[in-house]
Amino acid sequence: MLTPTEKIWHNGKFIRWDDATIHVLSHVVNYGSSVFEGIRCYSTPGGPAIFRLGEHVRRMVDSAKIYRMELGYTSEQLADAMLELVRVNSMDACYIRPIAFRGFGDIGVNGLKNPIDIYMGCWNWGKYLGEEALAEGVDVCVSSWTRMAPNTFPALAKAGANYMNSQLIKMEAIINGYSEGIALDVAGYVSEGSGENIFVVRDGRIHTPPLGASVLPGITRDSVLTLARDMNIPVVETIIPREMLYIADEVFFSGTAAEITPIRSIDRITVGKGRRGPIAEALQHEFFGLIGGTRPDTHGWLSHVHAAQPA
Ligand SMILES: Cc1ncc(COP(=O)(O)O)c(C=O)c1O
Repeated sequence: MLTPTEKIWHNGKFIRWDDATIHVLSHVVNYGSSVFEGIRCYSTPGGPAIFRLGEHVRRMVDSAKIYRMELGYTSEQLADAMLELVRVNSMDACYIRPIAFRGFGDIGVNGLKNPIDIYMGCWNWGKYLGEEALAEGVDVCVSSWTRMAPNTFPALAKAGANYMNSQLIKMEAIINGYSEGIALDVAGYVSEGSGENIFVVRDGRIHTPPLGASVLPGITRDSVLTLARDMNIPVVETIIPREMLYIADEVFFSGTAAEITPIRSIDRITVGKGRRGPIAEALQHEFFGLIGGTRPDTHGWLSHVHAAQPA
């Protein structure tokens, strides 16, 4: 259950958590017409800092553009609102959820005349797949569900409706005793987890599916690729056959929620040595060092919520 915070941002104003309600006949409730983001704010020695705020705002603006939604706010205004949201709720580490959707008005499928409502909330959130998962790895399956085909639901947009597919993948995995499912794309190649991008390591080289494999362009995916290049680990974006998962030395997920989570088995087949591998561990070290503020933020990925105090 969510623990409420004090305020939610709505169309430029802060309102009480309990007042952030919508009509049941809003377009979004009936047709899933929303675009949103999931963003983490981390606790650092310099106070709370939002991870890759600019990139998340850009993806939300991109998602809205794909769905012909006019947000009515500049990227800067949206970014400032998120920083302010963390401040007014006096949060330290938290999860931030901005969402834009077609609101109440017409009830037909065409939502072009419905108002676009934007809300932003934040709350405390721990490790998505569990603290232990980061060190030990998780047990996952290949889903019987396929990711959406190209030119059906645009995978590059982070749209609410896409998560109907994610729900099928996730529920099936949980019911069958796994932590997560890996979906294949419509051609049968590896795509991604229900809420994570995936990386496959073999012979010291990192492979990840390209954007054309129905994956969300993950911000953490980009961070992993960037950190790996910084560390001189070869990386390649390429189609990955399913069976490559079983013979990999390491497989791991990336995502805002999952951060960098190793996978220790897939379909009950042990991956590598059956625990976190050295490449996932080295990437975690860099990633957690950076977001924890103990390693230099060389790429400027942290947006501090409070202005730095003069020395
Ligand atoms: C389907 C899907 N793929 C990948 C990701 C990872 O993206 P990011 O690293 O931007 O959180 C997410 C999470 O948002 C997701 O929902």
